[in-house]
Amino acid sequence: MLLTTGIGLGLITGTTGLATWKLARTDNLALTINSVFAACGLCNRGKDGHNIPWEVKRVVRRENGSRLILRFPYGKTLSDVIGKTEAIMTALGADVAFARDGGYLLMDILQFPLPTFLPYEMRLLELTRGTWRVPVGRSIDGMVMHDFDAYPHLLVAGPTRGGKTVFLKNVIATLHLSHKASEIEFIGVDMKPFSLGFRKFAGVWNQLASTPEQFLAAIRSTYVQMEKRAETLAKANCENVQEYEQTTGERFKRLFLIVDEYGKSFGSDVEDDITSEMLQLTALGAGLGVHVVLCTQRPDAQVIDGKIRANVEAIVCFGAANAIQSRVILGHEGAEDLPDIRGRAIYQTDREIVLQVPYLSDKRLVRMLPNNIPQPVQTGVPNVGETPDKSGNTALKRLQTRSAQVVRLHD
Ligand SMILES: Nc1ncnc2c1ncn2[C@@H]1O[C@H](COP(=O)(O)OP(=O)(O)O)[C@@H](O)[C@H]1O
Ligand SMILES: [Mg+2]
Repeated sequence: MLLTTGIGLGLITGTTGLATWKLARTDNLALTINSVFAACGLCNRGKDGHNIPWEVKRVVRRENGSRLILRFPYGKTLSDVIGKTEAIMTALGADVAFARDGGYLLMDILQFPLPTFLPYEMRLLELTRGTWRVPVGRSIDGMVMHDFDAYPHLLVAGPTRGGKTVFLKNVIATLHLSHKASEIEFIGVDMKPFSLGFRKFAGVWNQLASTPEQFLAAIRSTYVQMEKRAETLAKANCENVQEYEQTTGERFKRLFLIVDEYGKSFGSDVEDDITSEMLQLTALGAGLGVHVVLCTQRPDAQVIDGKIRANVEAIVCFGAANAIQSRVILGHEGAEDLPDIRGRAIYQTDREIVLQVPYLSDKRLVRMLPNNIPQPVQTGVPNVGETPDKSGNTALKRLQTRSAQVVRLHD
């Protein structure tokens, strides 16, 4: 079976006989290594505070792994890298060995076929602490992270029992444990009837909605907050939260709206309102540190609205029933061919990779979360974002005017 798509995915068969996928492009390994090196503090910083990636001179593929030849950046030595071996091996999920050849680092990575089961490891938190990154899963090129700074919103799609909710729990656990409570806020939307669902993790949520009406109220309640955020950024003369954090050195509080079973809000009286408000939220929220993680098992064009889809540039897809569904989710065929393994997914950004998502049980997550004392969380908060001011403008209206001005300023 060979599958080729416009973006260059190729299907290969791993040593276990299970289908594993491999990107035709080889720059993915270089990117992975550089994100791991950056997390381990092995990259020099540019003037703007960005990590300067190591220059990858060559990648030599071997049967049991790869050798990367990287140029040492100024001031970095072999012992700096060796000192981080443990963290690098954890991140990549592979054994590594280092050597030096003149000004070059030789890095041998012994790779294994994709695991069919991958437990969530607390050690991953060493790589995510203080960042807005979460592990998506292990690919043949190592652990792949989703960075909410690079892609502010995330769509999670796939059939029932594909592993979507488990993945959401990975996201919640990682973000919650990687940050102080003062740095992050969570709004949960879980419309599954008769289930405790997100309520089990009551200690995490600042708000929890379980009906479409509460969901709508929760979205609207964020507009007042977003307006304050826009003012803070304007005062600091910054265009977005990343710029604010880099120039002031201060953390900017992030807000994560995590929606399980998004499709369940359709068919209700407020479905049109929710669609249009989600569109606003995904468009305006990105630069203001407001992130949306949308999860759906309904891969139809109504739920995955074309405009919202354009604002959400990262997708975790746990398979599709057929090629048509795959096209709705990913924009091309192929997801229907994913092997039937729980937690096996395709992660799409401007590139695409197949990976195994770590498994985290509810029981373990409850144990991991400190202070997970069930508290009364707010549901159905009043629509403060809807209250008009003296001139009849709501918080959303003012935000839209402000963002239109910003756009004009930059035209
Ligand atoms: N990453 C994973 N690795 C292994 N098993 C998984 C993984 N994700 C989910 N599962 C198994 O599949 C079941 C359904 O997962 P769930 O996330 O609830 O599916 P969905 O939300 O897509 O319907 C889980 O109870 C678990 O047994
Ligand atoms: Mg689910």
